[in-house]
Amino acid sequence: MSKHCVLVSGGAGYIGSHTAVELIEAGYDVVIADNLSNSDLRAVEGVRQITGVDVPFVEIDCCDRERLASELFERYTFDSVIHFAAFKAVGESVQKPLEYYRNNLTSLMNIIELMRRYGRHNILFSSSCTVYGEPDKQPVTELTPRKPATSPYGNTKTMCEDILRDSVAAYGDLRGIALRYFNPIGAHPSALIGELPRGVPQNLVPYITQTAAGIRECLSVFGNDYPTPDGSNIRDYIDVVDLARAHVVAIARLIEGKNKENYEIFNVGTGNGVSVLELVRRFEEANSLKLNYKIADRRAGDIVAIWADPTRANEELGWHATRNLDDTLRSAWAWEKRVRGIEE
Ligand code: UD1
Repeated sequence: MSKHCVLVSGGAGYIGSHTAVELIEAGYDVVIADNLSNSDLRAVEGVRQITGVDVPFVEIDCCDRERLASELFERYTFDSVIHFAAFKAVGESVQKPLEYYRNNLTSLMNIIELMRRYGRHNILFSSSCTVYGEPDKQPVTELTPRKPATSPYGNTKTMCEDILRDSVAAYGDLRGIALRYFNPIGAHPSALIGELPRGVPQNLVPYITQTAAGIRECLSVFGNDYPTPDGSNIRDYIDVVDLARAHVVAIARLIEGKNKENYEIFNVGTGNGVSVLELVRRFEEANSLKLNYKIADRRAGDIVAIWADPTRANEELGWHATRNLDDTLRSAWAWEKRVRGIEE
């Protein structure tokens, strides 16, 4: 019997490339599609190097429906899609809302339409804890009410969840899962793939590793006067390989028909809230170095605190976060050093 094939859109990106590796190692065939607008072919090369598999790569924009049809759906026999391809910068989305709505919504709608046209069944969507806004209660479960998004980016996640939910309800033979990611960090233990932000990093851990590498002078900790124990924001930092594995078990659940509803939602986090200052300290300790950082003003739009209750994913998917934070922070630094050619 031939192996089950999975289309990974956005597979040259940070989470997509790690997921492609875990899928292949779990025995799936993978096709990567990516327009390389915010990603790099080196990630695809890394996936090939880690797995020893010459993974097919198609350079394509998921907003181009007819090319998607002729170059992917007609050529490959995948029955499942993991849809990562999207813009993801919160601040940029405020400046360029139409680009965000057009790109993120159109690409998902195209994928769903073509899945129907070609009789494909299973789809995982990359959602985010951003849909919870500033939660009234911690930790958040999947039943915690969603709140109006604070950025166009966040709004696209909420809207895409709804597009998927309504499509699954209307079109009988489609099954979908939305995974709500908390804050993915770290890199593959091989250091062959990791996060490769373009320009100045917007996210905390790439900023930390670039500061440690001397590319940035000083990390700004955005606020130490929040109502948290040390005054800095609290997040749930999830190792990217653990997150990638959540996709493997979630897609298997759909393929094996073990889903309880045709549209399901899972939080993917560790269940531990960690503050920015604590993360900085843990990074220093795990890697035996000192980081240059200062306290700066709050960043507009940041929420105070959020962390996951991952019970549903633990119980229903049999998935647990396994890597400890120190190993994850070591992997982030190992990756940065490899990319920059820094010797031990
Ligand atoms: C947000 C979204 C997340 C989204 C991600 C995409 C929420 C809760 N999360 O993550 O869904 O996928 O953006 O980019 O809305 N920080 C510093 N200095 C820095 C950078 C960050 O102190 O130079 C702090 C931030 O203030 C924040 C924490 O580090 O408290 C994490 O920030 P970041 O990595 O940008 O992720 P979120 O904003 O949590």
